[in-house]
Amino acid sequence: MKQVNTTAIIGCQWGDEGKGKITDYYSQKSDIIVRWSGGDNAGHTIVFNQQKYKLSIIPSGIFNQAAICVIANGCVVNLEKLVSEINYLQKAGISCHNLRISDRAHVILPYHLALDACVEKAKGEKALGTTKKGVGPCYADKINRVGIRIGDLLNKDQLFTLINDNVKIKNKILKAVYQHDQQFDSQVIWAKLLALLPEIKDLIIDSGQFLNDQVKNEKRILFEGAQGTLLDLDHGTYPFVTASHPCANSIPIGTGLSLKLIKEIIGVTKAYSTRVGAGAFPSEINDEIADYIRKTGHEFGTVSNRPRRIGWFDAVIAKYSVQINGFTSLAITLLDVLSGIKELKICTNYLLNEQKINYLPSQITTFAQCQPEFIVLPGWKEDITKVTKYDDLPLNAKNYLQKISELTGVAIKIFSVGPDRKQTIVMEE
Ligand code: IMP
Repeated sequence: MKQVNTTAIIGCQWGDEGKGKITDYYSQKSDIIVRWSGGDNAGHTIVFNQQKYKLSIIPSGIFNQAAICVIANGCVVNLEKLVSEINYLQKAGISCHNLRISDRAHVILPYHLALDACVEKAKGEKALGTTKKGVGPCYADKINRVGIRIGDLLNKDQLFTLINDNVKIKNKILKAVYQHDQQFDSQVIWAKLLALLPEIKDLIIDSGQFLNDQVKNEKRILFEGAQGTLLDLDHGTYPFVTASHPCANSIPIGTGLSLKLIKEIIGVTKAYSTRVGAGAFPSEINDEIADYIRKTGHEFGTVSNRPRRIGWFDAVIAKYSVQINGFTSLAITLLDVLSGIKELKICTNYLLNEQKINYLPSQITTFAQCQPEFIVLPGWKEDITKVTKYDDLPLNAKNYLQKISELTGVAIKIFSVGPDRKQTIVMEE
């Protein structure tokens, strides 16, 4: 019997849970690191050799130069952005020879960016607050079966026809529906893609086949999640979600691997909550504690630089995430940010029409009516950034972690007390 050695890192909340850091830790023990959903909307910050790197499409795992990093079929790729990230890393001495891109991944094109901006503008106050990276319109084309895939770049003439068919329609939509001034020229888009192609041509593979072969060879595979469960197109807080599926359930579709091959699933959650963009957020706080957490936790978007909204840890959401993803363990990030806060709250259930509920309503209007009910736990004063093992945590920090584990029914395997690799503490080890 072959040994299956796969681990998935999944966000439990609305993205930005610190998955990059946990991925970076696991990537050191992996042969293959895979992104399977989303595009360059997924900003991730990685600290490597005391240097901070900001990436959005290249997997965080790239810093393990011995591993192969795959952007799999479920992703959408802005080639200009991809090439600029490759160059950015190369300038810093980090080679991308180990990067691979699926021939089935879809390409984000300039008209997707324009449509993303136009749709948001047209919604006015009801805008979703997208990252405006063209991710939604690109996935929409995929679903409409008019998308352009990485593999299409390898046939110049066919590529032109595909671009031209799209540009004709997109230009009409942009002008007639959104009164957008800019009109796209198929030739220009085509020439630009062909100019970028030599930079990535050797990296293009059939990633489904590749990954299945790697499993057969008993390689250690890490699935690097982007965004978070609450941003999932089906299971998130629709319509305030992204256009893809950040949940573990989507790994088989986004990679071409059988669902039987997904073994360990680690849910990553902040010790509190944050959200970028609009949408209901029951445990949100807007007081001096929120300001303190935002400042201490550097809670500003990696891609957009927008200040993130802050809330207490929400156990209803965490349990919902556990239910959807089937986490085998949890990783709690940014625990150090809570040091110095006298009393810590955890949302344990919602009040809806005076009834206690502990699930996530499917309708956003109902979710927006949910009032949080909290338990209060004593905080800790000590600086915990130098802690290297669980036993060294202050008692109240231990109690806080234990309460999260108790409320979610999942063991905590990892906690993190700072941005450096050394500050990621794995309990089993
Ligand atoms: P889109 O993915 O750009 O279409 O944006 C849809 C929603 O998902 C917006 O609320 C974004 O702020 C949010 N979003 C998308 N990617 C991320 C991420 O990586 N972290 C946090 N929020 C994200």
